[in-house]
Amino acid sequence: MTQPAKTTLVATDLDAMAEMSGRIALLIGKDGQLNAGAERVNELAGGALTRMIEAGALEDMKPGDVKTLAWPSGLKAEAVDIVLLEPGADQIEARKAGAALGKLLGEGGMTILDASEPGRVDLMQGIALRAYSFGARKTSDAKSLGEVRMMVKDPAGLEAQMNDARAIVEGTFFTRDLVSEPANHLTTTEFANRISDMESLGLKITILEEDKLESLGMGCLLSVGHGSASPTKVAVMEWSGGKDGDAPLALVGKGVVFDTGGISLKPASGMEDMTMDMGGAGVVAGVMRTLALRGAKANVVGLVGLVENMPSDRATRPGDVVTSMKGDTVEVINTDAEGRLVLADVMWYAQETYKPRAMIDLATLTGAIIIGLGHENAGVFSNDDTFCNAFLKAAEAEGEGAWRLPMGQAYDDELKSQIADMKNVGGRPAGSITAAQFLKRFVQEGTPWIHLDIAGVASVKSDTAYAPKGATGWGVMALNRLVADMIEKG
Ligand code: BES
Ligand code: MN
Ligand code: ZN
Repeated sequence: MTQPAKTTLVATDLDAMAEMSGRIALLIGKDGQLNAGAERVNELAGGALTRMIEAGALEDMKPGDVKTLAWPSGLKAEAVDIVLLEPGADQIEARKAGAALGKLLGEGGMTILDASEPGRVDLMQGIALRAYSFGARKTSDAKSLGEVRMMVKDPAGLEAQMNDARAIVEGTFFTRDLVSEPANHLTTTEFANRISDMESLGLKITILEEDKLESLGMGCLLSVGHGSASPTKVAVMEWSGGKDGDAPLALVGKGVVFDTGGISLKPASGMEDMTMDMGGAGVVAGVMRTLALRGAKANVVGLVGLVENMPSDRATRPGDVVTSMKGDTVEVINTDAEGRLVLADVMWYAQETYKPRAMIDLATLTGAIIIGLGHENAGVFSNDDTFCNAFLKAAEAEGEGAWRLPMGQAYDDELKSQIADMKNVGGRPAGSITAAQFLKRFVQEGTPWIHLDIAGVASVKSDTAYAPKGATGWGVMALNRLVADMIEKG
């Protein structure tokens, strides 16, 4: 996988400054007050910083903005990056400032002269999150990133927090790599292999193959993969860091490695974007990696349905009726509404097998959610206000956009079928909501449930706060925090 830049905390050593290579970054508040480290840089660079500040360089800067002094005389460093960040900045401001620095990180590495007590680790996390590029399918040798060092008074005291941040960055990169991979490389088998490799982190991995899925009765999931040469699989990742016997949180992901639409074929233009249709499964795998890496004290089980939606002589036809593991029959009106068929069976299996305390599913489920919310917010649907609010709070704290939408009987009525228990699509109106209503039919009485439609946020066409354009890893941080707040803190 793409390795995050190495991040280390080192004891403050102002004498080392003159000889330091790479970039030097310093944090300055709007008042232009220089801390000891900045004072030293200023001295070595012949007062360049004070001249810059006196000339009004900070005036047009917003929190998180960076101005660069390139090739400063008096220093070996290639640049001094001045970041505007107030000492009392919150976590998100600190991370965004870090992200601005992460964009500048190159082969020479970077040393941050610590300026403020709070948010130091968040700044490092922001740098590492932003310093990402997917190079696995390029033959030109990618430049490796230099080390990021942060000078602090008490490196040992911050190490535990730094380790958690590293776990989050690695989980996020794991998700981004999966989402970025083209479908001829990330087949259902390759996806399952990458998940199996996480056994070395202490996760218990089970891969359910087609014969098993058949005997379980997962007719909805299997119908999606019929047209593909790649075998349909369900991968289960169990993390048991909590108390024995505590019911786990279940995370369920849509892992359609490519969505052609099936017989209800999508138009050619933009179809290449459907390599990201396994985004929900990618987030589930990334969160599980983060939880394992940081040794979360919680029981969480991740389940992903891995399948490819292809047209062929064996593909499911519009009008076919398939039977779910639950036993309900579904008339497949549109083979392009396949994500809900995948989730229905995997969600049912998750509840039957693990009796979870709560369940969250993630899916790049509908184009309609992009029309409604754009690329700023994921769509949130739930049957439980307390659970839903806990998630929304976690997402907000992490700076990951999430917005709840309504559900209700009238939307569910749209799914009535003439010949089966339900059809797999409603009409054009409220397409994201009728999709959520379909899923709700596979949620058991008493299971608090959240559905996250991440079609608009899993991969985007321009840079975001924490990521260059492309795969974002949206949700790894919010779900990791939800686990910490709701389960680990009790
Ligand atoms: N994978 C798509 C949804 C999607 C669209 C994800 C754009 C990311 C970007 C999903 O399987 C799909 O095709 N949904 C249909 C549903 C319709 C047939 C009811 C859609 O949104 O058009
Ligand atoms: Mn589709
Ligand atoms: Zn799809």
